[in-house]
Amino acid sequence: MRSVIPGGLLLAIEGIDGCGKSSIALSLAQYCGEHGVRCVVSKEPTSVGPGAELRKSAATGRLSLEQEYSYFLADRSAHVERTIRPALAEGSIVLLDRYYWSTAAYQGIRGMDPLAILADNERFAPRPHGVLLLDLTPEAGLTLIRKRGDVPNTFEALNDLMRIREVFLHVHASTTYGHIIDATVPLRDVQTAALHIFLSIARQAAGASAEAEREFFQIPKAVE
Ligand code: TYD
Repeated sequence: MRSVIPGGLLLAIEGIDGCGKSSIALSLAQYCGEHGVRCVVSKEPTSVGPGAELRKSAATGRLSLEQEYSYFLADRSAHVERTIRPALAEGSIVLLDRYYWSTAAYQGIRGMDPLAILADNERFAPRPHGVLLLDLTPEAGLTLIRKRGDVPNTFEALNDLMRIREVFLHVHASTTYGHIIDATVPLRDVQTAALHIFLSIARQAAGASAEAEREFFQIPKAVE
């Protein structure tokens, strides 16, 4: 596997529960794999330390906002040091299934200022080159969760999801590196849109070295 972007690329995939983040991360990783390009897919909350505690709390009862917030930050900080920075240092493309926009949205609706949450995170977590915000209504998201055979967890009441979606859109409007993708269309079309945006972000990050890797950075004919 080779690197096509010196310094690596950090891309976060965000959206409400059921929007299809994992499938999109997988399809982008597959594109990288097919081109022999180094790529790491990771997920927050992680499954170790405070991340594991947070996952447990989704089933057994929410923590207080203060506790929850500090656990998400501690989990992210460890994730940044253990996985994200080392992968970027070796020139990998790093695809994150949730990152700090999720904190802004999910903890934001519990009463914190979403933009202050971004600022807290940017003190220790690298800003992504791009965020793909998979946007759909909470009703559509819950339908997709149930279709997968999953049961929505306690983070996912419909009214909350509506507010979470609003905060995601607000964060998108307040920053310059996010891209909204309509996630209500068939998965194949969401994948195509995500690939287009991913490649244009990657091309920009690669700068002059994109010339030598035309085959990777060109939008494949089949999906145009
Ligand atoms: P997870 O089980 O990974 O769900 P999904 O597959 O939908 O991503 O979910 C973790 C839950 O944690 C999800 O409902 C969103 C929430 N979350 C926060 O509240 N704050 C955060 O900073 C992050 C990363 C996730």
